[in-house]
Amino acid sequence: MLDLVTGKVQDESRQGEAYAPFALDPNTYKKHFYIESYGCQMNFADSEIVASILNNAGFGATRNVEEADLIFINTCSIREKAEQTVRKRLTEFRKLKEQKKGMLVGVLGCMAERLKSKFLEEEKLVDMVVGPDAYRTLPGLVEEAESGQKAVNVLLSREETYADIAPVRLDSNGVTAFVSIMRGCNNMCSFCVVPFTRGRERSRDAESIVQECADLFARGYRDVTLLGQNVDSYYYVAPDQEASGTAAPITFGALLEKVALISPLLRVRFSTSHPKDITDEVLHTMARYENICKYIHLPLQSGSSRILQLMNRTYTREWYMAKVDRIREILPGCGISSDIIAGFCTETEEDHQHTLEVMAHSNYDLSYMFIYSERPGTLAQRRYADDVPDEVKKRRLVEIVELQNRLSLESNQRDIGQTFTILIEGDSKRSPDDWMGRSSQNKVVVFPKANVTAQKGEYVTVQITGCTQATLLGVAVEA
Ligand code: SAH
Ligand code: SF4
Ligand code: F3S
Repeated sequence: MLDLVTGKVQDESRQGEAYAPFALDPNTYKKHFYIESYGCQMNFADSEIVASILNNAGFGATRNVEEADLIFINTCSIREKAEQTVRKRLTEFRKLKEQKKGMLVGVLGCMAERLKSKFLEEEKLVDMVVGPDAYRTLPGLVEEAESGQKAVNVLLSREETYADIAPVRLDSNGVTAFVSIMRGCNNMCSFCVVPFTRGRERSRDAESIVQECADLFARGYRDVTLLGQNVDSYYYVAPDQEASGTAAPITFGALLEKVALISPLLRVRFSTSHPKDITDEVLHTMARYENICKYIHLPLQSGSSRILQLMNRTYTREWYMAKVDRIREILPGCGISSDIIAGFCTETEEDHQHTLEVMAHSNYDLSYMFIYSERPGTLAQRRYADDVPDEVKKRRLVEIVELQNRLSLESNQRDIGQTFTILIEGDSKRSPDDWMGRSSQNKVVVFPKANVTAQKGEYVTVQITGCTQATLLGVAVEA
């Protein structure tokens, strides 16, 4: 957990993961692409869309960068560190490119959008710069780049949701999958680049989401996570209904229900919820369906109302704590996790203490914790001085991490002796003799395979017998 101090982004274990979704077949594909992803789950989901577009255009994928004719790096701009990681990786690709004539390098995602054609001046060996709403034009851009031109498309769209593109599931365990339900963000949190890199918020056609989830279920997947920067503001009206004046808007609660109804055996998760927007409707829908997982990622950012106002989060500490209480009331035993930023502009010791207090009140099972990193062009960068000294930011982060470590351990200790329904995702990382799965509350559970008849993708009841800070250990009591 402490390595979060380095300030990397969520889903740490997957950063930079390489993908090889299809069997390599040199006879089928003239050229091969390699894609590496950084940043949030949405970026990983986008790489699956990119792979689908490239595959349909006749390119095969490879896991081995040295075999590739096209190298893509799907980038993140959320903190300066995320961008540094990408630049380091690009220098490595540059060496490869010097050795292999004709190899092309493309930068995708948020950094492409933020830097636009400036990227080509800064990183001379980059051939393509493609923003998150321009992936459909990739095949054409590849052609342009092949003919020796520099290819750039960073146009943002108000409509693009890639609703009709069936993502190619990359490096998948065959059990869990992410499904994008919207793109962009209309909030203007003052610290955040996402509204600039991802554009305006738009919701994807509900039917296409349900269809994608149903297809996943039919192919053996048992756990889907609906993704958006702010899922609670999902709002979809079919264009024909809108035109005929018979509009029946679909809210996030309604969408969640539609997906839950696909099958009681399909678990449904979602991320991220904004504390200002999560409704009782959603909480009651979660309560009604066993298969909607009892887990909410509810980023706090800061526990000081003054700082929250500067961050433009539009809620106070009291509002936030009342939301947590409401979740606990409607959904007893629900897992709650958070994102926290240490050392935002003007943050005092008292503000920091307020953050620790709200963390303790919320009793988070898990948090992603970051040092504030000023981002060019954001409201905070233009309006406020980044005036908390580095050592102070770091010390506050350590205090936040230490508190979270204690809360996580206590949360796991409370589970000892209890039983949970676990969906088996695969072998435990440590031993092929153990299964790894997750509870509805999103906790990782490891237990011996001995005497368990259930297989990967199936459910099993597990009694918790021990824990570490990050993992529950148990034994299957009913296979
Ligand atoms: N849409 C999601 C968050 C996306 S970014 C939400 O609203 O919760 C993921 C997390 O990165 C944020 O919750 C925030 O904690 C962190 N983050 C964003 N910008 C940051 C910055 N400039 N410095 C440090 N952390 C940041
Ligand atoms: Fe960024 Fe705020 Fe939008 Fe999240 S809700 S992506 S933090 S602007
Ligand atoms: Fe990073 Fe873009 Fe996601 S900035 S966190 S990859 S939306």
